[in-house]
Amino acid sequence: TRTQVAIVGAGPAGMFLAHLLHAAGIDAVVIERRDRDYVEGRVRAGVLEQVTVDLMHRLGIADRLVREGLVHGGTRLSLDGDLFRIDMAALTGGATVTVYGQQEVMRDLFDAADARGLSIRWNVDDVALHDLDSARPSVSWREDGMERRLDCDIVVGCDGYHGISRAAIPATVLRTFERVYPFGWLGILADVPPVEHELIYANHERGFALASMRSATRSRYYVQCGLDEKIVDWSDERFWDELCLRLGPDVGGRVTRGPSFEKTIAPLRSFVAEPMRWGRLFLAGDAAHIVPPTGAKGMNLAVSDVTMLGEALVEYFDERSTAGIDGYSARALARVWKAERFSWWFTSITHRFPDMDGFSRRLQMAELDYIRGSEAAQRTLAENYVGLPLTPA
Ligand code: FAD
Ligand code: DHB
Repeated sequence: TRTQVAIVGAGPAGMFLAHLLHAAGIDAVVIERRDRDYVEGRVRAGVLEQVTVDLMHRLGIADRLVREGLVHGGTRLSLDGDLFRIDMAALTGGATVTVYGQQEVMRDLFDAADARGLSIRWNVDDVALHDLDSARPSVSWREDGMERRLDCDIVVGCDGYHGISRAAIPATVLRTFERVYPFGWLGILADVPPVEHELIYANHERGFALASMRSATRSRYYVQCGLDEKIVDWSDERFWDELCLRLGPDVGGRVTRGPSFEKTIAPLRSFVAEPMRWGRLFLAGDAAHIVPPTGAKGMNLAVSDVTMLGEALVEYFDERSTAGIDGYSARALARVWKAERFSWWFTSITHRFPDMDGFSRRLQMAELDYIRGSEAAQRTLAENYVGLPLTPA
């Protein structure tokens, strides 16, 4: 069989791109290793930038987002229990973020994909990419024990950090840049009202904590933990105690506790692969870059990548111009690196590092105190947090 664009991976990057191409009348097939329930069940990101919200509107998949998403015009920072607010909307001329879980985004993408007849191959094995440096690339895989092959014009690797696409770029071409952080995030979900109606990013002597939410009745909390720590050692009681300690007596005293129904540890990493294009292969989302979750940028970057790539592919197929696809990697990376910088910086001022001495601790405290007192510093934080604009091609 044949298609115009083969998309590897049905995460946010792959599915937003599939919808963008469908809307433009470009033929695409999505090839996914897992099943829909698995992809939809993964608890991940929670904060949508305006760019992401706008794209959901443009694609006509924002009905539930409008009803159920929580629009946040501000966020809170806390230093050893002392809380202050960043009025993001006032500092950015009205920009906001929307709290709406990645699971909900995926459900909306898949429901609309079914309704619109998008082509998704679930549960495939042994995906391999061929002839990417020729004008006739193809993708092969195994499905229900049968070998399948799809000829196409373009392959897009949306298969996440552990996918196969990035590895198809020759080592002589690919450059990677990386920081691994010496800690992880332990996250829980619980059906209790959130402690605050906005997010709280907390720097505490004992480590970072984050108070987030999914709805007025569902909370999402995280605490920084060691990479060698095990979930079994974190009873709900220990988690709540540690969280409340790090949020400080005021906020911690107001936390509603309850049984958690999800508890996982995620490592923190910064990673960028360059270039994001080789021959007929294009990378988008986590396949090309990872940010530590502190800035809430991971899923939003996947969306800005495919927004740019979608425009480039429309130019390519409709106008027979390669200008867009030739410029994609540089254009996407310019935004990616700014999000990398912000996510690295926000991580560095909010977490406890194992090698931290009194000097670095006091620098962190001074930086947070500076942000608290300086509108200029708050504006810098706010414009990055709500998401930098997509620059024109
Ligand atoms: P993915 O969502 O990883 O999707 C890739 C898809 O490709 C998957 O469905 C996978 O099954 C499929 N795939 C992989 N290999 C193959 C193959 N060989 N063939 C076919 N299909 C394949 N971001 C935040 O902003 N906040 C958070 O709190 C947060 N928490 C996270 C927690 C975890 C554990 C992880 C892993 C990520 C988290 N992120 C978070 C980041 C955010 O979820 C990602 O940035 C986002 O999912 C990226 O979307 P993507 O489509 O590029 O990749
Ligand atoms: C959530 C995750 C983040 O990484 C973040 O910065 C803010 C919120 C969340 O899961 O709600």
